[in-house]
Amino acid sequence: MIGGKKKCIGLIFGGESNEHEVSISSAKTVFQAFNAQINKERFTVEAFYINKYGDWLDSDISEKILIGEIENNKTKKQEIFNQEKINFLEGIEFQNIDVWFPLLHGFNGEDGSIHGLLRFTKKPIVGCGILGSALGMDKILMKTIFSNLKLPQVNYLVFQNEDLNDEEVKNKFINEISKELNFPVFVKPSNSGSSLGISKVRNESEILQALEKAREIDPRILVEEGLEVREIECGIIGNTKLFPSVIGEVKYESDWYDYDSKYHSNNKITIPAKIDSKITKEIKEIAIQSCRALNIFGFARVDFFLEKSSDKIFINEINTIPGFTKNSMFPMLWKASGLNIEQLVAKLVDISLGL
Ligand SMILES: Nc1ncnc2c1ncn2[C@@H]1O[C@H](COP(=O)(O)OP(=O)(O)O)[C@@H](O)[C@H]1O
Ligand SMILES: [Mg+2]
Repeated sequence: MIGGKKKCIGLIFGGESNEHEVSISSAKTVFQAFNAQINKERFTVEAFYINKYGDWLDSDISEKILIGEIENNKTKKQEIFNQEKINFLEGIEFQNIDVWFPLLHGFNGEDGSIHGLLRFTKKPIVGCGILGSALGMDKILMKTIFSNLKLPQVNYLVFQNEDLNDEEVKNKFINEISKELNFPVFVKPSNSGSSLGISKVRNESEILQALEKAREIDPRILVEEGLEVREIECGIIGNTKLFPSVIGEVKYESDWYDYDSKYHSNNKITIPAKIDSKITKEIKEIAIQSCRALNIFGFARVDFFLEKSSDKIFINEINTIPGFTKNSMFPMLWKASGLNIEQLVAKLVDISLGL
């Protein structure tokens, strides 16, 4: 059987996070890319769908979701393997997987949890490991490391695990924010994604509500000075050597890139972004430097702000498992850089194998 020589890719998607549907769309794109003629000779795919309860489904059902035969939300709990059993992967066959490709976003997917679990299988993983994933997910630690490197960032304050029900603590925070930062400010949970839990605060009277909203997602909170910005993104792939893609810009109709504008409107992506070549070069350098600092490799998307009034760049964040749908920035950046989606997925596997 030629299959003996083929690499079997374990594609994991879905997941408990609020980015469940995006993950399914991303996985559909990647599944098709591995099954394209040019990749069929080299790869087979086994799919692993994790439903919204966190239960893993076997590869037959998972594949049906990817080819659109079953709708994810119609899956009944009885049909799946339940994590209440001690061995929650019971019935999930993963012995024949050669390389894991986790395409989960957010909680339990992008924060290093799945990478920790997969490490027990002793198989290579597309993307970075536990440390890079955890750091890329945690805005406070990510910014602390960027500060150490003196990378350009917006001014920010950190509030960790404080009791917001205490009047004194509350007033102290509000005073500190008003004193140290210029309005508007962005209040963010340290661990989140898709702009969930983030508020743009225009004056002192709105701070408390924003802190409470962020705290519902994470008691560790970041408050940043808000600027008028263009949003610029750069893809990274590689292992010991990291390569930057061309740079793209995303424009939206709303005031800022909130949850609704991320998923429900017609955003305009421009690749390459129309920016000065000197700034482009600097963005690529910072993208590589920041990934190195956080031990992020394999693939990632590094997001920047370009202040409209000054043309100054600020690093915003790194996404260790960026969206991979047909309309996502990451595959589009690589297409413009000379790797179409089929070549890109194959390249990511090669990188994980050290080829
Ligand atoms: N300091 C800031 N200045 C201007 N806009 C900001 C700032 N921080 C966040 N935003 C807006 O909020 C969006 C989401 O913030 P971000 O930190 O990237 O969170 P997420 O990890 O959920 O994507 C950004 O893409 C941008 O539109
Ligand atoms: Mg973002």
